[in-house]
Amino acid sequence: MTDDDILPVALTNASTLLDYWTPLLARLCIEEGVFDAYGTTWRRDDDVARALGVNPGVLGRMVRALSSRDVFEENADGDHRLTELGQAFLSAHGFPKGVAGFKPWDLHAWAEARHTLLTGEAAFRHHYGTDYFTWMSGHDEIFAEFSEDMKLRTLGLLASGISAYPWPSAGTVVDVGGGSGYLLSAVLGERPDLKGILFDLPAALADAEGYYDGCGLSDRVTITPGDFFDGVPAGAEIYVMASVLHDWSDDDATRILGTCRKAMTPSSALVVYETVLGEGPTSPLSFGLDVHLAVLLKGRERTRSEWNALFRSADLRLTQVINTPGLSWMEVVPGEGEGPPSRASSHAVTRRRG
Ligand SMILES: C[S@@+](CC[C@H](N)C(=O)[O-])C[C@H]1O[C@@H](n2cnc3c(N)ncnc32)[C@H](O)[C@@H]1O
Repeated sequence: MTDDDILPVALTNASTLLDYWTPLLARLCIEEGVFDAYGTTWRRDDDVARALGVNPGVLGRMVRALSSRDVFEENADGDHRLTELGQAFLSAHGFPKGVAGFKPWDLHAWAEARHTLLTGEAAFRHHYGTDYFTWMSGHDEIFAEFSEDMKLRTLGLLASGISAYPWPSAGTVVDVGGGSGYLLSAVLGERPDLKGILFDLPAALADAEGYYDGCGLSDRVTITPGDFFDGVPAGAEIYVMASVLHDWSDDDATRILGTCRKAMTPSSALVVYETVLGEGPTSPLSFGLDVHLAVLLKGRERTRSEWNALFRSADLRLTQVINTPGLSWMEVVPGEGEGPPSRASSHAVTRRRG
């Protein structure tokens, strides 16, 4: 191969990396039910447009663009059908719609990602003037959508992972930042004599009561609204935090761990369910998500040594890491010290979040 051959190949590959419209089109089509409307058969674009109530000309052009990326194929009559790749997006094939939805509020932050590159601060805060969760707390429908997305994500990640951790058979488990409550219901499903507390911001708990009624778990779960920067329910045997700490900078994550540490008894354990970069089945998406967390939340994914340092900063000690096909369970217990610095002194160090 000569240099003349290499350049066009490199240019084609490079321009593929610059293509931001394919992910946006795919997300739009998921959100608006376009893929599901095509299903697995040949369809006329006009018929699909009529069924969905969308503009037929634009739908046809969007499908043509996705055909150029092998998501659809076209026959001699001009009809379209999803390819094998495209059929992966069908909800009937289990594609988690929520996770890949079209999120204008995330895109506003990404439009200002330069701010994150220059300052290390979250572009979301730069755009909206407040942090992600405070902003969502003022937008009930968006928070409900976020919690449903998280539920679908956690459900997929936990599929074969819940029994990998040896949950205690009795006592109380507190799910800190538990969101939809799905993880807690899965743990209680494993241990019939365990009781649970679902702890999260008030706006995140809007659907929790109905969810536990539906699961028949209302008598075993207490729903407790609160802010984990102020404190979490004290004295439980076990605390669990799933996909929470990666939303926060090291300073804020230390403060959250500090309130957990204060709530724990000497025999309590805290189980953190997160990615450990470089261990377990780290998905290639982890590195993209790491940057997404920086832009939206000033958060980050962490390696084992970064997790270790974080736990130590809150006087917690990592005792075991259990890798599962989803994320990893990290068990931590109180350290030998007096606990983390007092709230007053940690606030003096950093008052701002996100
Ligand atoms: C990425 S979601 C994870 C939800 C759930 N643990 C899961 O794995 O599906 C982060 C959760 O942290 C909660 N959260 C954010 N800030 C909080 C705060 N200050 N106090 C309590 N919960 C908070 C959010 O409401 C959200 O439910």
